[in-house]
Order: sequence, then C-alpha cells, then structure tokens
Amino acid sequence: MGVTRVGVVGCGLMGAGIAEVCARAGLDVVVVESTAEALEAGRARLTGSLRRAEAKGKVDDAAAVLDRVRLTGSLDELADREVVVEAIVEDEKAKVALFRELDRIVTAPDALLASNTSSIPIMKLATATTRPTHVLGIHFFNPVPVLELVELVPSLLTLDETTDRAAEFVGSVLGKHAIRCKDRAGFVVNSLLIPFILAAIRMLESGFAERDDIDQGLVRGAAHPQGPLALADLIGLDTTKAVAESLYEEFKEPLYAPPPLLARMVDAGLLGRKAGRGFYTYDK
Ligand code: NAI
Repeated sequence: MGVTRVGVVGCGLMGAGIAEVCARAGLDVVVVESTAEALEAGRARLTGSLRRAEAKGKVDDAAAVLDRVRLTGSLDELADREVVVEAIVEDEKAKVALFRELDRIVTAPDALLASNTSSIPIMKLATATTRPTHVLGIHFFNPVPVLELVELVPSLLTLDETTDRAAEFVGSVLGKHAIRCKDRAGFVVNSLLIPFILAAIRMLESGFAERDDIDQGLVRGAAHPQGPLALADLIGLDTTKAVAESLYEEFKEPLYAPPPLLARMVDAGLLGRKAGRGFYTYDK
C-alpha cells in the first residue's frame, strides 16, 4: 500500500500505543491532542514506553523513533495523511464531530479514516463524512506495542478495497495479525470474552464457587494464562461493565447483562488492578 504518513487523534492509553507502533514501523506520524496538558501527558506516555522498549532491547534507538512523531494541537496538520486512526474518548458525539472535521481536513480522497472504537457503530462515524466508503474500524488491543491482534471492521458502506488496504497496512506495515468481522457491538473478541467473564462473576456471586477455584479452574484446566476474574481486574471492572452494557444494548441477551456484583464493585470504586483492588488486591 506504500503508506508513509499516518495521523493519530488522541494520545491516551491507546493513541500513544498506536503512534508508537506506527513510528517503530518507520512511518511519519502526526498525533493530535485536545489540550496542552493532554499533549504533554501523551508525550510523556510515548517517551516512557519507548525508553522502556529500548532498555529491553526491543527498540534500537528510542530518540530516532520519537523524531518521527510530531505532537500537535491542530487537526489541520492531518491534511496530508494517508491513514488517520481516531483514538479519542469513547463518546459518540465527540467521535461524530471529529469524523466530520477529518472529512473536511484530510485531502486525499482515498485516505483511510479509521476508528479504534470498542463499541460505537462504525456506521455512525462513516455517515458523518462524505466518504463512508473509506471509513472503517481498526481496533487495536491494549497494550498496543505488545498485543498482536487487530480487528478490522468495515461498515455496510465500506468498500472491500478499503478493508483490503487496511489489512495490508496493519499486517505488512505494522506487523500485526488482522481478523475481520462485521459492524456489530463487541466485534469478535469482546463478544466471546465478555459473556465468559460475566459468567465467572455470576458463579462467584451465587456462591457456586470461590474466586481462586474459578480462576484456577481455567488456568490449570483450560491452559488460560489467567482466570476470568483476574482478567476482569486487568481490563478494569468499569470497562468490563461498559462493554457488557453496549453488548446488552445491541442484542438484549441476558448473557450480556452486567451482574449486580459487577455493578456494585464499580459503584464502590473497586475497579481492579488500576484501583489497587477488584476481585484481587494489588500493590499500587
Ligand atoms: P484515554 O482516555 O486514555 O485517551 C483518550 C485521549 O483522547 C485523551 O488523551 C484525550 O485528551 C484525547 N481526546 C479527547 N477528545 C479529543 C479530541 N476531540 N481531539 C483530540 N484528542 C482528544 O482512552 P483510551 O483507553 O486510549 O481509549 C481511546 C479509544 O480506544 C476509545 O474509543 C476506546 O474505546 C478504544 N479502545 C480502548 C481500549 C483500552 O483497553 N483502553 C482497547 C481498545 C480500544
């Protein structure tokens, strides 16, 4: 596909990771953030991650990689980009407004306009532009520099050629493994993972089995690297609940409904690893 110029909007957890893998692949990267503070936080996140990768011998020259990234507060700097990946907050209104702007700013009519959204229908973003044929979901996994998977999500209006070009970009250029699925809540991974985690929480909630018995059952009996309750803590219980809610809203199936225990833990601020306590307790 010969992509050399990429744009990333949002430099939070995901945007910084996406910018990092693009720069590590040798691409010229423009990253846009909304405020001066967020810009500095994004720069620190990116620099910290690259320094750690350099210390582990995964990156030869972190400074050279950073040189390929330009952080800015201006969306106008995305005008000449061939691919733009949106990774701002998971808020439909904010994303729709941004796609309207990207449509106005990005000049190449065949540029790929992608969203990293986990739950907002790609069609809502596509129809905010005059070029829905070139809009799709490119859903990375956290931490982006480590996890190999990317889900490609064309909407009903996305051209096959757009998805093929995105596959070439994430596969040949970024070295990721792409899978494809339709524009429905949860995509492949969360549609399978979230009901599994919710079932484990219901098992605990009903007193059917204890935490360690549930997790060890899956670790030692099904060779999972960690049990479902430990995994929920890692994802964050607020995120787990939010994804469950978006699946429930789409399909109205009880298996996607967040169990009361999950809701009460989120109410209590027991959000998992990031909060120091969820199903397990962690040293902060
Ligand atoms: P985050 O909250 O860490 O980062 C979002 C960033 O976007 C913030 O730095 C914020 O300042 C910036 N931002 C907000 N509005 C903006 C705008 N209009 N222009 C430019 N920058 C703006 O969120 P996170 O976790 O990185 O998530 C971003 C997206 O990635 C969401 O759509 C989320 O659903 C998706 N996602 C998250 C995953 C995760 O594990 N956290 C995994 C896969 C996808």
